[in-house]
Amino acid sequence: MKHNPLAVALQGPRHCLNLKNPVMTASGTFGYGLEFQSYGDLASLGGIVVKGLSLQPRPGNPTPRVAETACGMLNAVGLQNDGVESFVKEKLPKLPWKDVPVVANIYASSAEEFGELAARLNEVPGVAALEVNISCPNVHAGGSLFGQDPCQAAAVTASVRANAPDKPLIVKLTPNVTSIADIARSVEDAGADAVSCINTLLGMAVDLQTRRPRLANVVGGLSGPCVKPVALRCVWQVARAVQIPVIGVGGICSAEDVLEFVLVGASAVEVGTASFMRPDAAFRIAQDLPHAMESLGVQSLDELRGQLKA
Ligand SMILES: Cc1cc2nc3c(=O)[nH]c(=O)nc-3n(C[C@H](O)[C@H](O)[C@H](O)COP(=O)(O)O)c2cc1C
Repeated sequence: MKHNPLAVALQGPRHCLNLKNPVMTASGTFGYGLEFQSYGDLASLGGIVVKGLSLQPRPGNPTPRVAETACGMLNAVGLQNDGVESFVKEKLPKLPWKDVPVVANIYASSAEEFGELAARLNEVPGVAALEVNISCPNVHAGGSLFGQDPCQAAAVTASVRANAPDKPLIVKLTPNVTSIADIARSVEDAGADAVSCINTLLGMAVDLQTRRPRLANVVGGLSGPCVKPVALRCVWQVARAVQIPVIGVGGICSAEDVLEFVLVGASAVEVGTASFMRPDAAFRIAQDLPHAMESLGVQSLDELRGQLKA
């Protein structure tokens, strides 16, 4: 077989997720994937991470729930989705899951509920891996975020690991913490095969004339090019703290951005808000990658990974 210099093996302690290139999509910014198939060949992507799935359908938050900011956007969509059953029965069969890994991003309000979702998805052959969104409140712990506490983050990871023994497990970290490296270490110890970082940064925007917040939820998640420096810093810190692969997310808009994340230690990346600016962004970035590597004189991603001279 021909050697593919872009191929990535996300090798964890229990499972390996193989990608034909490092460019995946970020959850919540690429729908269920199907919405984007007229903009490019879904099978040309490294992976498709679908929007966050919950056990039951969720209507999301009241509007307005998105606001543009300088070099980015704020959202408080509130994880609107049709529920896991609708995804498994109606959406997934229409995706080219035999040709591109489809990663199910999951969201729940207790470690037990995370386990239930994981058990359901463990049975589904078209799901290549799970990505656990721990940037959500734990209802049993007074609403604090799972991802802001090493013990709660580990409890969710362990519950998903136990209930989805057959799937690679990615845990997605929040940047809204004092030490992201501590959280990364705790989910690694609890059984994660990889971590992705970062989710959105907590922010807000206000309208001076009306004296109202721009989002009905008042606060929301900041994403887009403005968060890239924070994401690079987080990936760099996490990559030095854990042995498992790190997936970089945050403000990626070009193939050069992908290479910056690889340089600080990422094994793969996810393209998010860029898909709202250009719906073909992820396809274009994957396509541009060989040229960007050639311009840098880099033959393979392994040669560049973690080579930051710091
Ligand atoms: C509208 C919107 C919805 C999102 N929904 C999810 C989600 O369901 N699950 C999740 O883990 N992350 C979600 N995210 C976070 C993104 O996947 C990504 O981590 C973040 O936006 C940073 O990357 P970016 O700057 O490239 O967008 C969402 C982001 C946006 C903008």
